[in-house]
Parts: sequence; structure tokens; C-alpha cells
Amino acid sequence: MSLASRLRAIGVLGMNRRNGVYTSRWNRRAHYPSVDDKLETKRLLRDAGIATAPVLAVARTYSEVRGMLRELDAYASFVIKPAHGAMGNGILVVSERDGDWFRRTGGQWIDRRALAYHSQSIISGAYALGGQPDVAFAEERLSVHPDLRAISTEGVPDVRVVVYRGVPVMSMTRLPTHRSRGRANLHQGAVGAGIELDSGVTNFAVCDGRAVDVHPDTQQAVLARAIPDFERVLEIAVRASDQTRLGYVGADVVVDEDHGPLVLELNARPGLAIQIANRAGLVPRLEEVDRRVRPEMHWPERIALGREIARRARGGALQ
Ligand SMILES: Nc1ncnc2c1ncn2[C@@H]1O[C@H](COP(=O)(O)OP(=O)(O)O)[C@@H](O)[C@H]1O
Ligand SMILES: [Mg+2]
Repeated sequence: MSLASRLRAIGVLGMNRRNGVYTSRWNRRAHYPSVDDKLETKRLLRDAGIATAPVLAVARTYSEVRGMLRELDAYASFVIKPAHGAMGNGILVVSERDGDWFRRTGGQWIDRRALAYHSQSIISGAYALGGQPDVAFAEERLSVHPDLRAISTEGVPDVRVVVYRGVPVMSMTRLPTHRSRGRANLHQGAVGAGIELDSGVTNFAVCDGRAVDVHPDTQQAVLARAIPDFERVLEIAVRASDQTRLGYVGADVVVDEDHGPLVLELNARPGLAIQIANRAGLVPRLEEVDRRVRPEMHWPERIALGREIARRARGGALQ
């Protein structure tokens, strides 16, 4: 069997069908701005009492950059990112500072001028989804949960949860590597490890499209790892998705050492590689949700449904 037909046989969702059937039907364009703009997402979730990564400073224009950097003088580490960024582009993680010198994750030291220049490029739209003028903001640098430290280098892992019609259908953790420079994006070279929804434990992993069982930098096992506080991760992913009025959402959650699980961002066009990291297709799960979800179900019931569907899918019952 060719790879394409093997993928079809396990119900792997492709880009055309994701766009043509799922996002076009369930994600109305009018609701995109609330997730495409990370600051808007934070506002939306704050109103609903859902924790997000704390914002330290914002620069909307070139002339506000100096003020943003001045506010950051109070912090030894932080992250500067574009409000409309994606796939880790434009994210600069500062892990250490010495006066006007800042150490980026990855080891390189840059000065204040370089930091200002980076912030200005963000504002000019260099990293924005559509190339339009953007907003630069700084976030508190989150810290890696001790349980995941051995399998994350330079940065913070996140947990991606795909939520369909309010039901969590698939999940993976993305583990940063030296090469991904502290960002947990697969495109940047991070490891993606599929998580069993019912147990919260990793059971398969890929890096650069190849199966791996250890982290490439630390050689520590990435399989059979329990995600800390996974119950709460699912809860905030689902409740955040409920706030967006989008039916197909990729929620990025970080389990911060001090704050616990918080939403980093939400995506209206989540990538499809999560299926590779889980060795499983989304289609059977999405179709099962269509058959079984009811409008009156509250989030705990929808989480229970998603877990049951994932468990049966793994047993082969739906494939
Ligand atoms: N505040 C933060 N602290 C530490 N790492 C972060 C922070 N924000 C982002 N990162 C790292 O960068 C990755 C991408 O961030 P995210 O906000 O999801 O942007 P994108 O839309 O580009 O994916 C995260 O998965 C994480 O590894
Ligand atoms: Mg992300």
C-alpha cells in the first residue's frame, strides 16, 4: 500500500478536507480575530476566568518600543512576540540578562538595539500572518514543569489539544530542542509526542517527521511520560474553545511550574501533524463527535466523550 493510501485507511485528515469540510463549516471568519490576535485572545479568556500567560508590556508603534523595553528593565527574562504570529516565527525568548545585554535561548547574546530592532520588525508586520502592521508585546517567560525538564531544552513545552465542537479529540505535547531555540513548534524542529487522552501519557513521538523515542538533545525517554495536571489542561482547552464560538480549534496550553496550566494561544487552522505524532487519523474521531455530541452537553461531559472516543479509536474499534 502507498503511504497516501495507508494514511487514508487510518482516516488521516488532509489539508483540503480540513479547510473544505471542517474549518469552513465550523469556523466563521467573523470569529477569527479573537484567535488570530493573541492579545484579543487573552482578553476574551480573562473575561471567562481562564488563565493565560501574563503580559508585561505592549508596543503598538515604533515610538512605543523604547517604553516597552524600559518596562522590561524590571525583568531578568521575558519573551517578545508578535500579536499576529504563527508557527513560532518572530518569537524571541530572553532567558538571562546582563544590563543592556540579553541572552536569547540558543546561547546568543544581543544588545538593547537588536532587541528594539526585533520589536520594530514585528510592528512592521515581518512575522504577521498576512504581512499587515502588527503589535509587539512581551510576556512573562514561563518555566518548564519539573516533570518535563529532562525532555525540554532551552524552552517551554506546550500541549496542543484539538477541540472539535467542544469535544477534545486529539492531543500532543511539543518539546523544544536546541534547534527550535526554545519554541515548541514542530516546524522549528521541536519533538511532537502524542498523548493518550484518557491517561494523559505520551505513547508515540516524532521529530522532523521521523519516529523517535528519546529527546534528541538529552537522550531521555519521551514516551510513557505523564503530562502534569492533564485533567486541568483538557478543562481549560475546552472552556477556552467554548469562548471563541469556533467549532474547530487548536488550543496551546502550557503547564507552568508556578501558575499551573494556562492557555498560551488558540489556533483556528491547527496543523495536521498532530496525527503523525499520534499515529492516528482525526477523521474517525471527528465523525464520531458529529454522531454523538449534543448541544446541551457541558464541558465535563464533552471531555468524557472525547476520551471515550479516543480510547475506542485506539482499540481499533473505529478504524
Ligand atoms: N511566554 C512564554 N514563555 C516561554 N516560552 C514561550 C512563551 N511564549 C511562547 N513560548 C514558546 O514559543 C512557542 C510558540 O508560542 P505561541 O505563543 O504558541 O506562538 P505561535 O503562534 O507562533 O505558535 C511556545 O510553544 C513556547 O515553546
Ligand atoms: Mg503556538
